Order: sequence, then structure tokens, then C-alpha cells
Amino acid sequence: MGPIPPDFVANDDGCLLVRGQDLHPFTALTWHEITPVFLYDWSVLANRIKRLRAAMPSELLIHYAVKANPFEPVVQAMAAVCDGLDLASGGELEVVLRAHAREIAAEEQRRVGAERKEALSLSMAGPGKRDAELRLGLGHGVTFQVESAGELERLLRLGREAGERPRLAIRVNPPFGLKGSGMKMGGLASQFGVDHEEVPALIRRIVEAGAEWRGLHVYAGSQSLSAEAVSEMQRATVALAGEIAEAVGMTPPEVNLGGGFGIPYFAGDQPLDVEAVGAALGETLDARAAILRDTRFIVELGRWLVGECGIYLTRVVDRKVSRGKTFLVVDGGLHHMLAASGNFGQLLRRNFPVAVARRFKAEPEEVVSVVGCLCTPLDLLADEVALPRAEVGDVIAIFCAGAYGASASPAGFLSQGAAREVFV
Ligand SMILES: Cc1ncc(COP(=O)(O)O)c(C=O)c1O
Repeated sequence: MGPIPPDFVANDDGCLLVRGQDLHPFTALTWHEITPVFLYDWSVLANRIKRLRAAMPSELLIHYAVKANPFEPVVQAMAAVCDGLDLASGGELEVVLRAHAREIAAEEQRRVGAERKEALSLSMAGPGKRDAELRLGLGHGVTFQVESAGELERLLRLGREAGERPRLAIRVNPPFGLKGSGMKMGGLASQFGVDHEEVPALIRRIVEAGAEWRGLHVYAGSQSLSAEAVSEMQRATVALAGEIAEAVGMTPPEVNLGGGFGIPYFAGDQPLDVEAVGAALGETLDARAAILRDTRFIVELGRWLVGECGIYLTRVVDRKVSRGKTFLVVDGGLHHMLAASGNFGQLLRRNFPVAVARRFKAEPEEVVSVVGCLCTPLDLLADEVALPRAEVGDVIAIFCAGAYGASASPAGFLSQGAAREVFV
């Protein structure tokens, strides 16, 4: 299985601590009463953003991709420390509005002094945005990452009807992808973005229609652990932005470089060297084309920011041996944590980092498979992992559950219900 994030430690009894404490003070409940549950540790998030800001060029703006974890307290926390929120739907915009993210960001800005950030920026990317989502976004000053010529025309029409001036960036389908990326999203025919050679014509259309051209957006892949690959993608993106800007003779106010920053999930994975990415990005920005001199650059990250802050706790309901193989049957499953079952974002199933919470520091004693309570063999949360012995009632912790966990799992499947989520 993969490496346990270093932020999680044990108490003197060897029991897993969250944010340096037993769970009690945060929830007034014992672990047994609250499983299955996702816990998101604020201190892990705070350390991530601090490290990222220190590693990246100071001019770089950092946006949080809400899709990674749309739990309201997480969104509120990210609004306070990021420069913008990237949305994938009208539903995510509603989460942001309910969370009062803008008000929290403004309050934080007052607290730290105005020069650190401007008003929280909201942008929305994704194919198939419906009219109702576009109207909602137009009314809240969202910058749309336009995905096609057809979507552009709809936005211009809806803007006219609503008496709003649309804020529009073009999402570019680039001629390159993120090398070795878990999810390649560039260099291909794609439902994402406008083919790069067609972008200048759309920019001209935006300007002549009187809308506000906000710039360019490129998202070329996800979950890379290679600083070299991420840096190469960023270099290619800045170069492409320069070429498009030259072609239209206008400076894009913003260029969103996307993300791609991965986290280690599996055995042998090494963490991404973000300091190396930051140093290379500094060089790339220093060497950018003159026409991009006044452009503001953005990265939008989800998984790297929140993935390691989350753990999923699920309790052993049954222990059984079948034909020599030991199974721990737990009260959760893939309906909460699909990714750990290998059915989200993996080609070959591998084990997420897993521990027995009460015996976090104990040596492994047996090889077990942790299976969920769903009646499908797919509901395999950990396959043949070496763990200290766990009894019925013990809590199993699955790490790296902060991104694409609860919200990326089929909570309605078999009517087992959603997991509780707690921000501590
Ligand atoms: C447009 C866009 N932005 C941001 C993200 C967030 O990616 P990650 O969570 O890997 O950082 C994605 C993920 O697919 C995306 O498609």
C-alpha cells in the first residue's frame, strides 16, 4: 500500500491522532459512534497552502478546484487562503454562495492587509454548462472558461438578455498533454476546450461583441508526481499563450496554467517536488514573451491542496476467513470511498494507505483484505494488506481521502446512505 501522509501521528498508546488530538474534543462522539466518517484536518490544509505559496513565484495566483472537495467547511477554509475558486457546475456555485465564501475571503483580506489578495475570483470550466448555470454565474460575476464556439454564442446571448457583460476566458485544447499524467486532457480531440488554432477567432468575437475578455485557460492533465513533467507543461502553456496573444495582438489579462499536481497514493510513489516546480515556473515566467508582461498567472489545484487532509474511518463489523483468506468487513465501502476500491482514476487496482486506528504504530501481524458492506466484489477497500490484528469494533483508517472521496462516490448505491463529514 501507499505511504501514510506524514501529518498523522499516534498518541502514547499508539492510537491515531487527528490534528494532534483524539477525536473526542472535536465531535463529542467516540470513533465507534461516528463511523463511517470523513475527517478533514484543517492544520494539514493550512500547511499545504503555506508550503505552496513559499514554493511558487510570489506573483502566482492560487485557485482551489472545488470539485476535489465541495464540503462547505472545506470550501470556506480554502476561500480564506486562496485567491480564487474554480467551479465545475452551477451546483458548485451554489455551494460557494451557501458557504459565504466571498464574504469569508473579504474578511480574511481585511485581516491580513489588502496587498495579499484581491476579491475572491470565481471561474467556471467544464463542458455542457446549461443555460440556468450560465445565468446564475453571469449574475455573480463568474469568469467562464468557454469550451466551444457554441457555448460562447449562448453566453453572449444570455448576457444580453440579462443585461450583464459576460466575463469570458477561452479554455484552450492545447497541442500537448501532461506527460505521464493519470488523466491526459490535452493533445487530443477533446470535449474540453477550443482547439488552439481556433482560439484567436473566438477572442476576436468576444471583443467585438463587447464582452470582457479575461484571458486563457489550459488544463492538460492531472495527478502527476513528476516535477519535470509539470514544469514542461507549464512552459508549453506559457509559450502557447504568448503565440495566441501575438496572433490577436492583445495581452490576456489572465492565463490559467491549470494544475496537474499529484499526491502519492500507492507503494513506490514519491511526492511531487513542488519547490522544483516553483523554481522552474519562476524561470518560465521570467522568460515569457513581452506581450505577456502584464498578464497574471494562475494555477488551479484540487487534489494536491486537500487530498492528504482527509481520512476515511470505517468500523470492522465482521471478521471472517474464507479459504484461508482473512476479510475485515467494515461498515463503509466504495459508496463513500470509490477511489480506494480502484474504480475511480486507476487503471490497475492498487491499495491506498490504510491503518488500524487503535494500533496505528503497531507492527503488521497478518495479511487481510478490507471489504465494504455492499453486495458486490468491487467493494474492496484494501486487498491483502499487512496490518496489526483488528477485531470487530476496531476502526480502519484510509488515508488520502480528502479529494475525490465523498463527493466522487455513489452514495446512493444500495441505499446504504452517505458518510458523515467532519472538518476539524
Ligand atoms: C479544469 C480542471 N481544473 C482543476 C481540476 C483539479 O484537478 P486536481 O484535483 O487533480 O488538482 C480538474 C480535474 O479534473 C479540472 O478538470
